[in-house]
Amino acid sequence: MCGILGAVIHDGHSDLKGILLPGLRAVEYRGYDSAGIAVMNGEGITVNKKAGKLSILEETLGEAPIEGSVGLGHTRWATHGAPNDENAHPHWDHQHRIILVHNGIIENYATLKDELLAKGVQFKSETDTEVAVNLIAFYYDGDLPTAVRLAGKRMQGSFSMCVMAADQPRLMVGIRNEVPLLVGHGEDATYLASDITAFLAYTRDVTYLEDGEMAVLSDEGTKYFDVQSGREIEKTVERVEWNIEQAQKGGFDTFMMKEIHEQPSVIRQLLERHLPSPNEPVHMPQLDELIKDNDFRLVSLLGCGTAFHACKVGKYVLEGLAKIPCRVMYAHEALYHQAPISNSALTIAVSQSGETADTMGAVKSQKAAGSKIVSICNVVGSSLTRISDQTLYTMAGPEISVASTKAFTCQLTMIYLVAIWIAEKFGRADAAELKHLKEELLAIPDKMSAILQSEKQIEHLARVYRQVRHFYYLGRGVAYPVAMEGALKLKEISYVHAEGYAGGEMKHGAIAMIEPGFPSCILAPKSPLLEKMVANMEEILSRNGEVMVITNAPDRFSKYDVHVFPFPDCPQVFSPLLMSLPLQIFAFYSAKLRGRDIDQPRNLAKSVVVE
Ligand code: G6P
Repeated sequence: MCGILGAVIHDGHSDLKGILLPGLRAVEYRGYDSAGIAVMNGEGITVNKKAGKLSILEETLGEAPIEGSVGLGHTRWATHGAPNDENAHPHWDHQHRIILVHNGIIENYATLKDELLAKGVQFKSETDTEVAVNLIAFYYDGDLPTAVRLAGKRMQGSFSMCVMAADQPRLMVGIRNEVPLLVGHGEDATYLASDITAFLAYTRDVTYLEDGEMAVLSDEGTKYFDVQSGREIEKTVERVEWNIEQAQKGGFDTFMMKEIHEQPSVIRQLLERHLPSPNEPVHMPQLDELIKDNDFRLVSLLGCGTAFHACKVGKYVLEGLAKIPCRVMYAHEALYHQAPISNSALTIAVSQSGETADTMGAVKSQKAAGSKIVSICNVVGSSLTRISDQTLYTMAGPEISVASTKAFTCQLTMIYLVAIWIAEKFGRADAAELKHLKEELLAIPDKMSAILQSEKQIEHLARVYRQVRHFYYLGRGVAYPVAMEGALKLKEISYVHAEGYAGGEMKHGAIAMIEPGFPSCILAPKSPLLEKMVANMEEILSRNGEVMVITNAPDRFSKYDVHVFPFPDCPQVFSPLLMSLPLQIFAFYSAKLRGRDIDQPRNLAKSVVVE
């Protein structure tokens, strides 16, 4: 949840403030309750930290550079302790010998704190982090890697940390357990960070730490160790494809709008990779490798938040197209529910970040129960991809906006490709039908571009509803999870209460809420269920409710007093890809008109690495 970044300058010193603040800006989406940096110069370590967004720290620090040889920084999403200056990272031990930044949770911190209190340690903050740094300091006798390792063996939970010692001007130690930590190999410096984007401006050469591993950055280069045994280990350097332009706003005011507009191109690229032509089978070597026989009986789809909604669409698609029974669960529910699973099951875990703790936990337990794991993930080398048997990368490029947009439609696209791959491989659908579907899928990016041309119409709808405090989203079949996702987008960034319902469920309770000022968004793709959605709409209108319709059958709604946003024709199964765009744009303008911080909505974080 928090963003961390450390840098060790090769040969000498540099303006570390100029490295750390832009790096932290790139990972600020991970948390923005407070920010802080610590820089080692010839005279010791200077610490600056402030509650609130990074911009507050930037203002406080002003223009002057802060030169140093080693430095670390942090943006916080508060877990233990309020988001105030005192609880902001970096944290010193009580004697100011060791300083660190931390991402994650030390679960046994209360026990460790009692132990340290008994030894006379005084604590200033309420954080578990201050316990960690004092534990490291307790073991420190001039050998920082050993102190971090000994403390690391005693800490339970999910954490990654960057650690410096006040008497070691050219040394930094990183440790990882269950939350990401990467080493970036730059020309002028070596970096430690929770996310590639933190150092993408300097290098694309990365080493991923695994759970229970440490990195020691010094003038002798970078060395890696196993925390339990202390044994030195060999690690490889990988080159990531992302570039710095992808992690910038590219002329848009917000990352969210930039990412909304990227959807036609990232989906086109994704399709080109797996489906160059409708005359060829879907190309998925990862599945060829994993699914050799027609021997799996159940697909279990897991995810959280937006990724969960992609899973819910996936159930309709895989059952409908590939004729395979599917179970969908929130990962955090699956984790504590002993659903029977066998080695004839395939688990598809969906996650943009590949770091969501709930999804990781559920995947580990399904793997232990014998299921094969395929992940659909956006971040190359992320934790989820490391425990999966195979990964299908959505390759949407960095998604920085906390509200997910392009990652969602890329997840959907990947699920369509998987369904077509299964249907083709095991003869579950007619060849002519599959060819038609492939042609239609390949036509989606252009249709998305056409929707983006109509942005103004959607902005107008957001103006119409700029005063409302509640919104229903209704859909049936594949449109039902899209309704849930539309409601989530509105809640996340505009703080308007919204609920996504299955149209048929409306009459079983939700309709009681309908009155003027409580509008509903009806998702009505052309399908055998279209008339059912018209009936839903009539029921709402007859109770003085207001309605906005997203449909590719606009004529059907012309005689009603409703707002209609038409989208291009497509087979019903692919309509989630097209309906998602107006819903994203509607949420965007609803938030903008209410003056919300769109890229960094309150209380949220992009990547939730704690349970
Ligand atoms: C957080 C984010 C959501 C996201 C969810 C799952 O709650 O705020 O936007 O959908 O995590 O994230 P993942 O990276 O696993 O897709």
